[in-house]
Amino acid sequence: MSNGNDRGQWQSRAGFIAAAAGSAIGLGNIWRFPYITGKYGGGAFVLVYIIFLIIVGYPIMNAELILGRKTQKNAVGAFRTLAPGTPWSIVGWMGVAAGFIILSYYSVIGGWGIAYIFKTATYMAKNADHVNIFINFITNPTAPLVWHAVFMAITVGIVMAGVEKGIERYSKFLMPALFIILLILIVRSVTLPGAAEGLAFYLKPDFSKLTAEALLAAMGQVFFSLSLGMGCMITYGSYLSKNEDIPINSIFIVASDTLIALLAGLMIFPAVFAFGMEPGTGPGLTFITVPAVFNAMGTGGAFFGILFFILLVIAALTSAISLLEVVTAYVVDEKKWDRKKAALVVGILIFIVGIPTSLGQGIWSHIRPIRGLDILDSYDFIASNVLLPLGGMLIAIYSGWFWGTEKMREEGNLGAKSIKLGGFFDILIKIISPICIFIIFLNSIGILKV
Ligand code: PFF
Repeated sequence: MSNGNDRGQWQSRAGFIAAAAGSAIGLGNIWRFPYITGKYGGGAFVLVYIIFLIIVGYPIMNAELILGRKTQKNAVGAFRTLAPGTPWSIVGWMGVAAGFIILSYYSVIGGWGIAYIFKTATYMAKNADHVNIFINFITNPTAPLVWHAVFMAITVGIVMAGVEKGIERYSKFLMPALFIILLILIVRSVTLPGAAEGLAFYLKPDFSKLTAEALLAAMGQVFFSLSLGMGCMITYGSYLSKNEDIPINSIFIVASDTLIALLAGLMIFPAVFAFGMEPGTGPGLTFITVPAVFNAMGTGGAFFGILFFILLVIAALTSAISLLEVVTAYVVDEKKWDRKKAALVVGILIFIVGIPTSLGQGIWSHIRPIRGLDILDSYDFIASNVLLPLGGMLIAIYSGWFWGTEKMREEGNLGAKSIKLGGFFDILIKIISPICIFIIFLNSIGILKV
């Protein structure tokens, strides 16, 4: 396996899990999951989400890691190796494109997070107007770009350092740090007077809200949150050694991502309700409501506020690293570029592509490329609603029907100790997941209106 060693290889099981869980745990967990759970029926939504995790997320997580380890290649190279001369490498290409697009706006939001670590102290001025502070900041044509550059520079720096000395080393201390900060914030949040109402809003099952739209939202969230559908786990799987246990590692990644998403809601909602605020949505919940909550906390508020934004930046950073790695690994393997040069050049290009998403909040807000969405939301729409589900479905179809479940299981069960992939896995990957994804995909491109 000299090839594997030249490209880099995870040094330990813990290192791989930290990196893969770091990829999965990101902005999707900290603000998106709590908000959609609140919106679509609390505990009832969580139940459906967990079902989709098992029938779609878990099999595709295995499939991507298996494709990666088998070929020891990036998203495009994996298909080129297994299906040479066929159009299947387009699936890898779509993944590289999705990584490029997602990282370009992810870094802009990550930059907002870094800025807010520093801005939080200023909020503590009495009666700060959090709505205006946020709007003034993101509509400014230059300041957010500087933070976007800072966030991207840190991401590039880590990826340049390599798989072991960069990605693995940083993930191994950032992920435990994230977990500890989250626990501190949860303890603070749930012990506030009035927190119970927030817990009830978050978790009380309301099956009447469980509409078809909610089911589709749950499926989309599974994809984005687990970093599936764009070859990210193919790339991370390509640095795995043959004696690593893929079925068990997949369980760890899926379970830790879900745990952090659930805990994020436990951190946010009790505090929001304790201070009588409206549970806002999306970026508003993170950058307006949460700072307002810390402000209302009085003593200690600034401390917890700063901790919250450090948490957000760590989560975003370890996901951004994986997004950059998808594109970098492609350039390193297929174009034979040196890793440092590849990460730097790709990082600069992605930074440039992200500039319009930042300007689209202010001076370019009149530009609405898709369905009236601003530039950032349009990028997100193309990547998350089109490229990820389509990519995920094609990965499932390719591995189940073309490469074949027998070969998949053979590779996947190398190193597998307690759980082995069997007949049930075949049904999930060949039939159940592609059909489920096909349904969300049709919905997201607007053919099927529910
Ligand atoms: N999983 C990340 C999140 O939940 O924020 C986002 C993401 C990272 C999506 C890497 C796709 C990916 F390949």
